This record gives sequence, structure tokens and C-alpha cells, in this order.
Amino acid sequence: MLPPNLNKEVLLGSVTVGVVFVTGYLFGKKKVPRMSISKSHSAGQNNPLMQYVLNHSLREHPVLKKLRLRTMEDPRNIMMVACEQSQFMANLAKLIQAKKAIEIGVYTGYNTLSVALALPEDGVVVACDISEEFTNIAKPFWKEAGVEQKIDLRIQPALKTLDDLLSSGQAETFDFVFIDADKTNYDNYYEKSLQLLRKGGIIAIDNVLWGGQVLNPSPGDADTVAIDKLNKKLHKDFRVTLSMLTVGDGLTLAVKL
Ligand SMILES: C[S@@+](CC[C@H](N)C(=O)[O-])C[C@H]1O[C@@H](n2cnc3c(N)ncnc32)[C@H](O)[C@@H]1O
Ligand SMILES: *[C@@H]1O[C@H](CO)[C@@H](O)[C@H](O)[C@H]1NC(C)=O
Repeated sequence: MLPPNLNKEVLLGSVTVGVVFVTGYLFGKKKVPRMSISKSHSAGQNNPLMQYVLNHSLREHPVLKKLRLRTMEDPRNIMMVACEQSQFMANLAKLIQAKKAIEIGVYTGYNTLSVALALPEDGVVVACDISEEFTNIAKPFWKEAGVEQKIDLRIQPALKTLDDLLSSGQAETFDFVFIDADKTNYDNYYEKSLQLLRKGGIIAIDNVLWGGQVLNPSPGDADTVAIDKLNKKLHKDFRVTLSMLTVGDGLTLAVKL
């Protein structure tokens, strides 16, 4: 049976993305429905399976929880990383015994805090953002969690910070990078991150499905075009191993060979 109402299905979140895709495919539809972001704090909220996942796996540090609730008061909270995705990336950082990380796009600092908590005492996360307003929300929470000394916040365009890191001799010294800022610079962030990573280091790229718009990028939409172009490039980029996960708004993992 095919779902009677595509739009309704879409609201159910990532679990249905496959169904919708296949349905659209079978019908030979030209126009693919726009798919909602299925982060647990947005469209995924009403998805019982997502609730089950959170109920049975989220182990959120109390300060992370406070920061999440504070972020929900901000009208732009759709930008926040999904907490289940953040926990997954923290687990990855631990798995590879990461000591040096980079966060490209901090917003209210949820994922920065999550990765800082996963790093050892002498670990560091270089946190890149251009907004004092957003990152000022983050700071008291970083302090309360006792990890502010691990967070090196740099308020300037992230490309500049990555160049600074390269010119200060830090190429091939980072373990983990999370790319989550302006989409039109994604390819630049990827290339610079690849230089900054050691072999076996991980680049995690957020929003690679961009609410489903990558299925049908309109030429005038620079963000979607940039994401789709990078997705296509990564598929044949053998400098890295590759996975594209359907968590949150789509997460690509590239491990440097
Ligand atoms: C999707 S949010 C990041 C969410 C964050 N990773 C989290 O854990 O919730 C994107 C952020 O990128 C920042 N940003 C936009 N353009 C930027 C640039 N050129 N350089 C650095 N940060 C930028 C915005 O200010 C915003 O805070
Ligand atoms: C998840 O936990 C909440 C709070 O305990 C509960 O109300 C809800 O029924 C649970 N949902 C699932 C699917 O486990």
C-alpha cells in the first residue's frame, strides 16, 4: 500500500523519507515533495518512534539539557543540532580518542559543549562563529559544565579561523571537525578541514539532505546547489571513506585516509 497522503507522511520524519522517495519514484513524479527536517526538537517531535529512540538512548548531561531548553526559547532554534545526533558524534569522538576538535558554526553552543565533554582534560575544541549574540548564550553553560577551558571560541568568519590554524602549523593535528555553518562555504570548509585533520580523523557534515531539497535543487537556490554539489563530489572523493546517514537533517561522515 502506498501512503494516501504524502505530506502527512513527510511530517513523520526521517523514518518515512525512504517510503516517500520510493513512492515518488514509483509514480514517476517530477516534483518531489519538500521534506521536513526531522530533528527530535522540530518535526521529529511528533514521531513516536523518535520518542522511543530518545527515551531509550539519550544520556544528556544535565547542563546540555539546560542549554537545549534555553535554546528552545530562541526563535531560530531549528538551527540547533539534534541532541541524538550530537550524542552520536560525541561517541565517535571518544571512539577515535579525539583530543582536538573544530566546530564550524556554534550557534548557542550545544554541540560544542557536547564534544568538549567528550574530550579529555587537555582536549580543545576550536569553536568558530561570527555571532556574539548566539555564542554569548552558550558561554555560561560551558562554564557551568566546567569545560570552558577546553573551548577556544573565535568570533570571525570560520574560513579565516581555519586559515589561521593552518598558518600556525596545525595541519594534520585535528581529530574531529563538525561542519555546520553557511552552506555556500561547505566545500571550502571541507577542503580546509581535510588539511587540518590527521589520518583517521573524521569530518562530520550536517544538513546534507537539506529538508529533502537536494532531490530537486532549484538553480537559484545557492544553499541547496552547494550542498548537492558537495554531496556529488564526496561520492567520488577517495581521499576519505564515506557514509551518509539519515539522522537529523542528514549527516555525512568522511574519514581521512
Ligand atoms: C546551524 S547553526 C550551528 C548549530 C550548532 N552546531 C549547534 O550545535 O547547535 C549555524 C551557525 O553558523 C554561524 N555562521 C554563519 N556564517 C558563518 C561564517 N561565515 N563563519 C562562521 N560562522 C558562521 C551562524 O552564526 C550560526 O550560529
Ligand atoms: C517516552 O517517555 C515519555 C516520558 O516518560 C512517555 O510519556 C512516552 O510515552 C514515551 N514514549 C515512548 C514511545 O517510549
